[in-house]
Amino acid sequence: MTNYLLVKKVYETKPVDTVVTVRGWVKSLRNSKKFSFMMLNDGSGHRDLQIVLDGALSNYEEVAKLLIGSSVEVTGLLIASQGKQPVEMQAQKVHIYCANTEDYPLQKKETSLEYLREIAHLRGRTNTFSAVFRIRHELAQATHQFFSGEDFHYLHTPVITASDAEGAGEMFRISTLDLDKLPRTDKGAIDFKQDYFGRETFLSVSGQLEAETYAVGSLGRVYTFGPTFRSENSNTSRHLSEFWMVEPEAAFNTLEDNAALATRYVKHLINHALTKCRDELEFLAERYNPENIKTLEHVASSDFQMVTYTEAVEIVREAALSKKHKFEYLAKWGDDLQTEHERYLAEVHFKRPTIVTDYPKDIKAFYMKLNEDGKTVRAMDVLVPGIGELIGGSQREENYDKLVARMKEMNMKTEDYWWYLDLRKYGSVPHSGFGLGFERAVMYITGMTNIRDVIAFPRTPKNAEF
Ligand code: 4AD
Ligand code: MG
Repeated sequence: MTNYLLVKKVYETKPVDTVVTVRGWVKSLRNSKKFSFMMLNDGSGHRDLQIVLDGALSNYEEVAKLLIGSSVEVTGLLIASQGKQPVEMQAQKVHIYCANTEDYPLQKKETSLEYLREIAHLRGRTNTFSAVFRIRHELAQATHQFFSGEDFHYLHTPVITASDAEGAGEMFRISTLDLDKLPRTDKGAIDFKQDYFGRETFLSVSGQLEAETYAVGSLGRVYTFGPTFRSENSNTSRHLSEFWMVEPEAAFNTLEDNAALATRYVKHLINHALTKCRDELEFLAERYNPENIKTLEHVASSDFQMVTYTEAVEIVREAALSKKHKFEYLAKWGDDLQTEHERYLAEVHFKRPTIVTDYPKDIKAFYMKLNEDGKTVRAMDVLVPGIGELIGGSQREENYDKLVARMKEMNMKTEDYWWYLDLRKYGSVPHSGFGLGFERAVMYITGMTNIRDVIAFPRTPKNAEF
């Protein structure tokens, strides 16, 4: 029986003096007079396996000419190595699956991240992208591990929905109506009663409202982790039209509990990556951001800063007015914080993740709990250096009358949210939750600076090629 091993397992178990078979792709091939050295990677880990190819191999000539990215299966003896790697292989047999030709787009020379976005179907083969995506995988695992450990239940909320959870109107429509023959009502409006679901439906911008239904009165603590869609027209390095969000929701949690939960979660993600993805983080740090690991270690061991929105605006205004820092926009109470303000707070002023709370109600969603001042709500945004907003969350308004009044004030149709309002009629309790933009977390931890480089197939305005 063939003793197939993943390269990762070769390094974990170091079975020297045994004959094993590995399968993967050629990362590089160096020829000397009588030998060739092949670096082989199979995706299982960051480190390649060094394979010594002896001139005596039956197909040596063919093997020695293999180009980068060619696929092979190699059987050979594992031996302790004198070089950088703890083990290497002496090949006894090489089977070639596919020998690449000269036109393979990923040659040894470094290619720019911009160019790689144009060949997104191949970019996973580079060291950078395989490192980023192994880290992304680990962060997803760490997410389930963390919330399970905190007694949250994983709830799958729908992708197709009739409600605009954020009330921002940035939704993609789902419809099977024939665009050339749109059915009309007597008044001339489009008749959605004849559409597939008999009403207007959209791709979800957040699973929060549905998650609340299982947090209150049912499972108590739930979290969702799924794709979300926003048709906002922001072509920035931090926005996607399709992104993944992690949304915990907990009955009885106050805003302070919510902030503490978010802090534990972010630190868990960092610690998990630091232990499980050391090789990948070191590689990315060396290539893109030498300080990254030190910064992550620092964040994992320090407190996050808490500050109210009102205080934050004062800090940013003071920095602008005293000319300590240059901003494009002057912060003003009542306006949303711009990314430059968020980054100033986390990067320059506090120099650590910063949790801004109690925003003006007019710049936040309808479901947030009103403070006693009648002007601000129990909202929180977690801002991190280099990115800005990583998490948005709040304590929810649990009082039926107050929530209805707020929705009417915002001209929302309360009848469309009857089921959401029911949660405030039956078994209502204080509860809180947040949403973490998963790609932003991957950016933050890998140190990548463009969100398009941490999701396999980015969807952004005017871009859905792959
Ligand atoms: O602040 P947001 O809009 O909050 C919500 O959706 C709430 N329903 C969450 C909750 O309380 N359950 O979005 C949450 C996070 C943001 O902080 C950001 O990290 C990310 O989602 N996000 C985006 N990430 C990538 N591209 C976009 N277009 C994003 N919009 C939001
Ligand atoms: Mg937000």
